[in-house]
Amino acid sequence: MTGLFDSWQRQINYLRISVTERCNLNCIYCSAASIAPLPRNEILSYEQIQRIVRVAAGMGITKVRLTGGEPLARPDFIKLVGMIAGINGIDDVAITTNGILLGKYARELKDAGLNRVNVSLDTLKRDRFKQITGGDKLAEVLAGIEDAHLAGLEPVKINVVVMRGKNDDEILDFARKTITEGWHIRFIEFMPFGTCGTDGVETVATREIQERLQVLGKLEPFAGPAGNGPAKYFKFPGSKGSVGFITPMTEHFCATCNRLRITSDGQLRPCLLGNDEVNLKGALGNESSDDEIKQLIQQAVRLKREEHHLSGELIPEAVTRPMRQIGG
Ligand code: 5AD
Repeated sequence: MTGLFDSWQRQINYLRISVTERCNLNCIYCSAASIAPLPRNEILSYEQIQRIVRVAAGMGITKVRLTGGEPLARPDFIKLVGMIAGINGIDDVAITTNGILLGKYARELKDAGLNRVNVSLDTLKRDRFKQITGGDKLAEVLAGIEDAHLAGLEPVKINVVVMRGKNDDEILDFARKTITEGWHIRFIEFMPFGTCGTDGVETVATREIQERLQVLGKLEPFAGPAGNGPAKYFKFPGSKGSVGFITPMTEHFCATCNRLRITSDGQLRPCLLGNDEVNLKGALGNESSDDEIKQLIQQAVRLKREEHHLSGELIPEAVTRPMRQIGG
Protein backbone atom coordinates (compact mmCIF):
# COMPACT_ATOMS: atom_id res chain seq x y z
CA MET A 1 0.00 0.00 0.00
CA THR A 2 1.37 3.39 -0.90
CA GLY A 3 0.31 6.48 0.99
CA LEU A 4 -0.20 7.31 4.62
CA PHE A 5 -2.33 4.95 6.71
CA ASP A 6 -3.16 5.02 10.40
CA SER A 7 -3.46 2.06 12.79
CA TRP A 8 -7.06 1.51 11.70
CA GLN A 9 -6.26 1.33 7.97
CA ARG A 10 -7.70 4.76 7.32
CA GLN A 11 -5.90 6.60 4.57
CA ILE A 12 -4.73 10.02 5.68
CA ASN A 13 -4.51 12.34 2.68
CA TYR A 14 -5.92 15.62 3.97
CA LEU A 15 -4.08 18.28 5.95
CA ARG A 16 -5.88 21.23 7.56
CA ILE A 17 -3.69 24.11 8.64
CA SER A 18 -4.72 27.04 10.83
CA VAL A 19 -2.57 29.87 9.48
CA THR A 20 -3.63 32.40 12.09
CA GLU A 21 -5.94 32.45 15.06
CA ARG A 22 -6.66 36.12 14.48
CA CYS A 23 -9.96 37.10 12.91
CA ASN A 24 -11.74 40.21 11.70
CA LEU A 25 -14.94 38.98 13.36
CA ASN A 26 -15.68 37.84 16.88
CA CYS A 27 -18.42 35.21 16.68
CA ILE A 28 -20.25 34.28 19.85
CA TYR A 29 -19.06 30.68 19.71
CA CYS A 30 -15.49 31.57 18.89
CA SER A 31 -15.09 34.72 21.03
CA ALA A 32 -11.65 35.70 19.83
CA ALA A 33 -11.47 38.60 22.24
CA SER A 34 -11.46 36.43 25.33
CA ILE A 35 -8.07 34.86 24.68
CA ALA A 36 -5.11 36.99 23.63
CA PRO A 37 -3.74 36.04 20.21
CA LEU A 38 -0.35 34.36 20.04
CA PRO A 39 2.58 36.64 19.34
CA ARG A 40 3.52 36.64 15.65
CA ASN A 41 6.80 34.84 16.24
CA GLU A 42 4.98 31.86 17.69
CA ILE A 43 2.95 31.11 14.61
CA LEU A 44 4.38 29.21 11.67
CA SER A 45 6.00 31.25 8.91
CA TYR A 46 4.91 30.70 5.32
CA GLU A 47 8.25 29.04 4.59
CA GLN A 48 7.70 26.63 7.47
CA ILE A 49 4.17 25.81 6.30
CA GLN A 50 5.44 25.23 2.77
CA ARG A 51 8.16 22.93 4.02
CA ILE A 52 5.73 20.87 6.10
CA VAL A 53 3.32 20.50 3.19
CA ARG A 54 6.16 19.53 0.84
CA VAL A 55 7.26 16.76 3.20
CA ALA A 56 3.65 15.68 3.83
CA ALA A 57 2.97 15.57 0.08
CA GLY A 58 5.88 13.17 -0.27
CA MET A 59 4.16 10.91 2.26
CA GLY A 60 0.71 10.85 0.66
CA ILE A 61 -1.06 14.09 1.58
CA THR A 62 -2.82 15.37 -1.56
CA LYS A 63 -5.34 17.86 -0.15
CA VAL A 64 -4.77 20.96 1.93
CA ARG A 65 -7.19 23.34 3.60
CA LEU A 66 -5.92 26.65 4.94
CA THR A 67 -8.08 27.95 7.71
CA GLY A 68 -7.93 29.97 10.90
CA GLY A 69 -8.93 32.29 12.48
CA GLU A 70 -9.52 34.15 9.28
CA PRO A 71 -6.88 33.11 6.74
CA LEU A 72 -7.49 36.12 4.48
CA ALA A 73 -6.65 38.40 7.42
CA ARG A 74 -3.05 37.20 7.51
CA PRO A 75 -0.81 39.56 5.50
CA ASP A 76 0.27 38.26 2.10
CA PHE A 77 -1.97 35.22 2.30
CA ILE A 78 -2.16 34.96 -1.51
CA LYS A 79 1.57 34.27 -1.49
CA LEU A 80 1.07 31.27 0.79
CA VAL A 81 -1.67 29.88 -1.48
CA GLY A 82 0.76 30.02 -4.40
CA MET A 83 3.48 28.35 -2.33
CA ILE A 84 1.15 25.47 -1.41
CA ALA A 85 -0.54 25.08 -4.79
CA GLY A 86 2.87 24.76 -6.44
CA ILE A 87 3.89 21.72 -4.41
CA ASN A 88 4.15 18.48 -6.35
CA GLY A 89 1.45 16.03 -5.30
CA ILE A 90 -1.00 18.59 -3.89
CA ASP A 91 -4.07 18.47 -6.12
CA ASP A 92 -6.64 20.31 -4.01
CA VAL A 93 -6.14 23.56 -2.10
CA ALA A 94 -9.13 25.08 -0.30
CA ILE A 95 -9.79 27.67 2.37
CA THR A 96 -12.41 28.22 5.02
CA THR A 97 -13.18 31.92 5.37
CA ASN A 98 -15.78 34.25 6.83
CA GLY A 99 -16.02 35.77 3.35
CA ILE A 100 -15.51 39.43 4.26
CA LEU A 101 -12.35 39.76 2.20
CA LEU A 102 -13.37 37.41 -0.61
CA GLY A 103 -14.57 40.27 -2.79
CA LYS A 104 -11.11 41.77 -2.59
CA TYR A 105 -9.14 38.58 -3.11
CA ALA A 106 -11.25 35.98 -4.99
CA ARG A 107 -9.64 36.54 -8.37
CA GLU A 108 -6.09 36.64 -6.98
CA LEU A 109 -6.75 33.50 -4.96
CA LYS A 110 -7.89 31.70 -8.09
CA ASP A 111 -4.86 32.89 -10.02
CA ALA A 112 -2.58 31.75 -7.19
CA GLY A 113 -3.96 28.22 -7.55
CA LEU A 114 -6.77 28.03 -4.99
CA ASN A 115 -9.42 25.52 -6.03
CA ARG A 116 -12.38 26.31 -3.82
CA VAL A 117 -13.75 28.03 -0.73
CA ASN A 118 -16.02 27.30 2.20
CA VAL A 119 -17.71 30.35 3.68
CA SER A 120 -18.94 30.42 7.28
CA LEU A 121 -22.29 32.20 7.39
CA ASP A 122 -24.81 31.64 10.17
CA THR A 123 -27.49 34.18 9.31
CA LEU A 124 -28.96 36.07 6.36
CA LYS A 125 -30.20 38.94 8.54
CA ARG A 126 -28.10 42.03 8.94
CA ASP A 127 -28.90 42.79 12.60
CA ARG A 128 -28.46 39.21 13.60
CA PHE A 129 -25.18 38.98 11.73
CA LYS A 130 -23.98 41.84 13.93
CA GLN A 131 -25.14 40.05 17.07
CA ILE A 132 -23.54 36.73 16.16
CA THR A 133 -20.28 38.00 14.71
CA GLY A 134 -19.79 41.43 16.24
CA GLY A 135 -19.42 43.00 12.76
CA ASP A 136 -21.79 44.76 10.38
CA LYS A 137 -20.44 42.85 7.39
CA LEU A 138 -23.26 40.74 5.96
CA ALA A 139 -23.32 42.69 2.67
CA GLU A 140 -19.58 42.12 2.20
CA VAL A 141 -19.94 38.40 2.81
CA LEU A 142 -22.83 38.03 0.36
CA ALA A 143 -20.88 39.99 -2.25
CA GLY A 144 -17.82 37.86 -1.48
CA ILE A 145 -19.78 34.68 -2.17
CA GLU A 146 -20.80 36.08 -5.55
CA ASP A 147 -17.23 37.06 -6.33
CA ALA A 148 -15.99 33.59 -5.41
CA HIS A 149 -18.44 32.12 -7.94
CA LEU A 150 -17.40 34.64 -10.58
CA ALA A 151 -13.75 33.78 -10.00
CA GLY A 152 -14.54 30.07 -10.44
CA LEU A 153 -13.65 28.99 -6.90
CA GLU A 154 -16.13 26.12 -7.17
CA PRO A 155 -17.84 24.62 -5.39
CA VAL A 156 -18.50 27.44 -2.93
CA LYS A 157 -19.94 25.85 0.20
CA ILE A 158 -21.74 27.74 2.93
CA ASN A 159 -21.23 26.49 6.50
CA VAL A 160 -24.15 27.23 8.80
CA VAL A 161 -23.68 26.39 12.48
CA VAL A 162 -27.21 25.85 13.78
CA MET A 163 -27.91 27.24 17.26
CA ARG A 164 -31.27 26.95 18.92
CA GLY A 165 -32.93 30.29 19.55
CA LYS A 166 -30.18 32.15 17.68
CA ASN A 167 -30.53 31.20 14.02
CA ASP A 168 -32.54 27.98 13.80
CA ASP A 169 -35.52 29.97 12.51
CA GLU A 170 -33.48 30.56 9.32
CA ILE A 171 -33.02 26.91 8.41
CA LEU A 172 -35.71 27.16 5.71
CA ASP A 173 -34.33 30.45 4.36
CA PHE A 174 -30.91 28.87 3.91
CA ALA A 175 -32.40 25.73 2.38
CA ARG A 176 -34.40 27.81 -0.11
CA LYS A 177 -31.13 29.32 -1.32
CA THR A 178 -30.16 25.87 -2.60
CA ILE A 179 -33.19 26.02 -4.88
CA THR A 180 -33.24 29.69 -5.85
CA GLU A 181 -29.51 30.42 -6.01
CA GLY A 182 -27.93 26.98 -6.35
CA TRP A 183 -26.07 27.38 -3.06
CA HIS A 184 -24.38 24.42 -1.42
CA ILE A 185 -25.34 24.72 2.24
CA ARG A 186 -24.00 22.58 5.06
CA PHE A 187 -25.83 22.64 8.35
CA ILE A 188 -23.33 21.94 11.14
CA GLU A 189 -24.34 20.72 14.58
CA PHE A 190 -23.03 23.18 17.12
CA MET A 191 -20.27 21.71 19.34
CA PRO A 192 -20.10 23.21 22.82
CA PHE A 193 -16.37 23.67 23.27
CA GLY A 194 -15.34 24.83 26.71
CA THR A 195 -12.83 27.20 25.16
CA CYS A 196 -15.47 29.20 23.32
CA GLY A 197 -18.07 31.61 24.54
CA THR A 198 -20.80 29.05 24.22
CA ASP A 199 -22.80 29.49 27.40
CA GLY A 200 -26.45 29.15 26.64
CA VAL A 201 -25.92 28.06 23.05
CA GLU A 202 -27.73 24.83 22.26
CA THR A 203 -27.20 22.27 19.51
CA VAL A 204 -30.03 21.39 17.13
CA ALA A 205 -29.76 17.76 16.06
CA THR A 206 -29.58 17.03 12.34
CA ARG A 207 -32.67 14.84 12.54
CA GLU A 208 -34.68 17.80 13.76
CA ILE A 209 -33.30 20.04 11.01
CA GLN A 210 -34.24 17.41 8.43
CA GLU A 211 -37.77 17.17 9.79
CA ARG A 212 -38.20 20.92 9.61
CA LEU A 213 -36.98 20.92 5.99
CA GLN A 214 -39.70 18.55 4.86
CA VAL A 215 -42.08 21.43 4.11
CA LEU A 216 -39.82 22.38 1.20
CA GLY A 217 -40.02 18.97 -0.46
CA LYS A 218 -38.37 15.58 -0.25
CA LEU A 219 -34.62 15.63 0.15
CA GLU A 220 -32.95 13.15 -2.16
CA PRO A 221 -29.49 11.76 -1.38
CA PHE A 222 -26.83 13.25 -3.60
CA ALA A 223 -23.17 12.35 -4.03
CA GLY A 224 -22.29 15.92 -3.14
CA PRO A 225 -20.15 18.73 -4.44
CA ALA A 226 -16.40 18.03 -4.53
CA GLY A 227 -14.88 17.79 -1.08
CA ASN A 228 -13.01 15.75 1.47
CA GLY A 229 -15.18 16.02 4.54
CA PRO A 230 -17.83 14.22 6.51
CA ALA A 231 -20.95 15.99 5.23
CA LYS A 232 -23.84 13.93 3.90
CA TYR A 233 -25.52 15.64 0.98
CA PHE A 234 -29.07 15.88 -0.32
CA LYS A 235 -30.95 17.90 -2.91
CA PHE A 236 -34.47 19.10 -3.35
CA PRO A 237 -35.83 17.73 -6.65
CA GLY A 238 -34.67 19.87 -9.54
CA SER A 239 -32.47 22.19 -7.51
CA LYS A 240 -28.96 23.08 -8.58
CA GLY A 241 -27.60 23.43 -5.09
CA SER A 242 -27.45 20.96 -2.22
CA VAL A 243 -28.12 20.62 1.47
CA GLY A 244 -25.41 18.92 3.52
CA PHE A 245 -25.38 17.86 7.14
CA ILE A 246 -22.39 17.60 9.43
CA THR A 247 -23.19 15.65 12.57
CA PRO A 248 -20.34 15.84 15.09
CA MET A 249 -22.77 15.63 18.00
CA THR A 250 -25.34 13.04 16.99
CA GLU A 251 -23.32 10.74 14.74
CA HIS A 252 -19.56 10.92 14.75
CA PHE A 253 -17.74 10.19 11.53
CA CYS A 254 -14.43 8.89 12.88
CA ALA A 255 -14.55 5.77 10.69
CA THR A 256 -13.96 7.86 7.59
CA CYS A 257 -11.50 10.33 9.12
CA ASN A 258 -8.82 11.15 6.55
CA ARG A 259 -7.17 14.14 8.16
CA LEU A 260 -4.43 15.64 10.25
CA ARG A 261 -4.45 19.18 11.58
CA ILE A 262 -1.76 21.71 12.26
CA THR A 263 -2.44 24.44 14.79
CA SER A 264 -1.42 28.03 14.15
CA ASP A 265 1.54 27.56 16.51
CA GLY A 266 2.81 24.47 14.76
CA GLN A 267 1.43 21.50 16.67
CA LEU A 268 0.28 18.46 14.72
CA ARG A 269 -3.11 17.44 16.00
CA PRO A 270 -4.42 13.96 15.19
CA CYS A 271 -8.03 14.73 16.20
CA LEU A 272 -10.07 17.93 16.48
CA LEU A 273 -11.72 16.63 19.63
CA GLY A 274 -8.70 15.03 21.29
CA ASN A 275 -5.88 16.90 22.93
CA ASP A 276 -2.95 14.79 21.74
CA GLU A 277 -0.43 16.95 19.91
CA VAL A 278 2.98 16.47 18.37
CA ASN A 279 5.34 19.43 18.45
CA LEU A 280 6.27 20.04 14.86
CA LYS A 281 7.39 23.63 15.27
CA GLY A 282 10.26 22.55 17.50
CA ALA A 283 11.67 20.54 14.60
CA LEU A 284 11.55 23.31 12.04
CA GLY A 285 14.87 24.93 12.82
CA ASN A 286 17.43 25.37 10.07
CA GLU A 287 19.38 22.31 11.11
CA SER A 288 16.46 19.92 11.20
CA SER A 289 16.14 17.46 8.36
CA ASP A 290 13.05 16.66 6.31
CA ASP A 291 13.32 13.19 7.76
CA GLU A 292 12.69 14.53 11.27
CA ILE A 293 9.55 16.27 10.04
CA LYS A 294 8.47 13.07 8.37
CA GLN A 295 8.91 11.11 11.58
CA LEU A 296 6.79 13.61 13.51
CA ILE A 297 4.02 13.37 10.92
CA GLN A 298 4.19 9.59 11.20
CA GLN A 299 4.02 9.88 14.98
CA ALA A 300 0.89 12.04 14.76
CA VAL A 301 -0.72 9.53 12.39
CA ARG A 302 0.10 6.73 14.84
CA LEU A 303 -1.57 8.75 17.60
CA LYS A 304 -4.87 8.82 15.72
CA ARG A 305 -7.36 6.89 17.82
CA GLU A 306 -10.07 4.71 16.38
CA GLU A 307 -12.64 7.25 17.51
CA HIS A 308 -13.01 10.15 19.89
CA HIS A 309 -15.09 9.58 22.97
CA LEU A 310 -16.92 12.81 23.14
CA SER A 311 -19.87 12.59 20.80
CA GLY A 312 -23.30 12.83 22.33
CA GLU A 313 -21.98 13.95 25.67
CA LEU A 314 -19.32 16.38 24.58
CA ILE A 315 -17.67 17.56 27.76
CA PRO A 316 -17.36 21.35 27.48
CA GLU A 317 -13.89 21.47 29.00
CA ALA A 318 -12.66 18.55 26.94
CA VAL A 319 -11.02 20.51 24.18
CA THR A 320 -8.29 22.66 25.62
CA ARG A 321 -7.67 24.93 22.64
CA PRO A 322 -9.94 27.39 20.92
CA MET A 323 -11.22 26.29 17.53
CA ARG A 324 -9.48 29.15 15.75
CA GLN A 325 -6.06 27.82 16.74
CA ILE A 326 -6.94 24.28 15.75
CA GLY A 327 -8.54 25.38 12.54
CA GLY A 328 -12.05 23.91 12.72
N1 5AD B 1 -19.46 23.99 16.58
C1 5AD B 1 -19.70 23.70 15.28
N2 5AD B 1 -19.09 24.30 14.25
C2 5AD B 1 -18.20 25.26 14.55
N3 5AD B 1 -17.45 26.04 13.75
C3 5AD B 1 -16.70 26.83 14.53
N4 5AD B 1 -16.95 26.61 15.84
C4 5AD B 1 -17.89 25.62 15.87
C5 5AD B 1 -18.56 24.95 16.92
N5 5AD B 1 -18.33 25.22 18.20
C6 5AD B 1 -17.52 25.98 12.29
C7 5AD B 1 -17.29 27.30 11.63
C8 5AD B 1 -16.62 26.92 10.32
C9 5AD B 1 -16.31 25.45 10.44
C10 5AD B 1 -14.96 25.08 10.00
O1 5AD B 1 -16.49 25.15 11.80
O2 5AD B 1 -18.46 27.99 11.40
O3 5AD B 1 -17.43 27.16 9.22
